[in-house]
Amino acid sequence: MRMIDILECKRDGAELTKAEIDWVIEAYTDGSLPDYQMSALLMAILLRGMTRAEISQLTQAMVRSGSELRLRDMLGSYAVDKHSSGGVGDKTSLVVLPMVAACGVPVAKMSGRALGYTGGTLDKLESIAGFNVTLATERIARQAREVGLVIAGQSEELAPADGLIYALRDVTATVPSIPLIASSIMSKKIAAGADGIVLDVKVGEGAFMTELDLGRELAQQMVRIGEDAGRDVIAVISNMNQPLGGAVGNALEVREALDTLRGGGPEDLREHCLIIAGHMLSLAGQGKRWVDPGETRSALLESLDSGAALQLFRDMVVAQDGDARMVDEPDRLPGARLVETLAADRAGVVQSVPARGVIHAAFALGVGREAKGDALDHGTGLWLQVKVGQRVAEGEPLVTIHANSEESLARCRAELDGLIPLVDEEVAPLPLVFDAIHGRRQPRGAPSP
Ligand code: URA
Repeated sequence: MRMIDILECKRDGAELTKAEIDWVIEAYTDGSLPDYQMSALLMAILLRGMTRAEISQLTQAMVRSGSELRLRDMLGSYAVDKHSSGGVGDKTSLVVLPMVAACGVPVAKMSGRALGYTGGTLDKLESIAGFNVTLATERIARQAREVGLVIAGQSEELAPADGLIYALRDVTATVPSIPLIASSIMSKKIAAGADGIVLDVKVGEGAFMTELDLGRELAQQMVRIGEDAGRDVIAVISNMNQPLGGAVGNALEVREALDTLRGGGPEDLREHCLIIAGHMLSLAGQGKRWVDPGETRSALLESLDSGAALQLFRDMVVAQDGDARMVDEPDRLPGARLVETLAADRAGVVQSVPARGVIHAAFALGVGREAKGDALDHGTGLWLQVKVGQRVAEGEPLVTIHANSEESLARCRAELDGLIPLVDEEVAPLPLVFDAIHGRRQPRGAPSP
């Protein structure tokens, strides 16, 4: 096979064959295909797009580039997973996974780290002293069976081709291609072995996808990839125009997740978790259990009110060498030296809480990474006290800054200056979710149409 023929084919908008896609992925993974030719192909894909068959074949080729987890064998039951495309203050996994596990559906999730504006579940969990995310497969399997809940770092052996291609996309301006994003995310999810996957596709100014139609297209493509791979997929398209919940920052988000697991927490976070967890249970129930949405919701609420979900989170922390006293007494979580509250300078209604501006302000405090390997400051962050549409009195708190230096506090304060506008007229609260797309799965291994 000649790469030049493959490049000409995609450059001219024609469809690549399975054999060509397999060849490219194998050659790029083993190092025999140079970056300059792979870059040219990625740019041709970005400009010309891919058909459904090409996208599924690309995904499967990336899955085959590494090993696949046998999650169903590990759990001894249908395996259900979730994935968020990343948003500001998105601590959903920390709440949802214990809720689902407390309803009797074991969960073993492979998570990622924060890069750019996407928050990372592993980084949040590492706010808990000692928490170990580097677990061997055997240990993951044992903990999943014995505890029913495990959250670990994703092994580099899952879809290694995606890691190599993503690094190249990052430096060749080819990240924002929906076929490339969809295949990248789904290759890792499929390799992680779940039978059912709930995708939380965030749309809005604090998300990767800023436009609803593009978010819908991404969700649709990921659902189709799942169908072609014989997985059950539900994609929830959710609103990321304002942060989810109030906390933005690693330890603060763990604290807010613990509040929610204790039956409190902010209304939007709690509701979002009920929606995602409800879809996970509906997939795990396979049409035999968790069929009635009202009963499913009651069971999930019960998992919070009874303390069962919190207990499972605690059990997971203990099993993964974390300091459970931080779960029992969240004041023990890492904190910040300087805490300052910004208050409303007039009475009014909150017009917007711009997620992008909030994350810029939080980055000034060291909550995230600009580049792979950057250190994080776990104790810093923001605690937002208002939501769009909320009426506030003059002097009421809008946001609290948790900083570890005078300099970062000043930079954060400058970023927040005027960020949350107050107006006189009523403002409608933002919807949490725009839509949900349900896949109809093909038997595993069936050819795509
Ligand atoms: N997340 C991924 O895993 N891949 C992408 O291409 C974009 C976001």
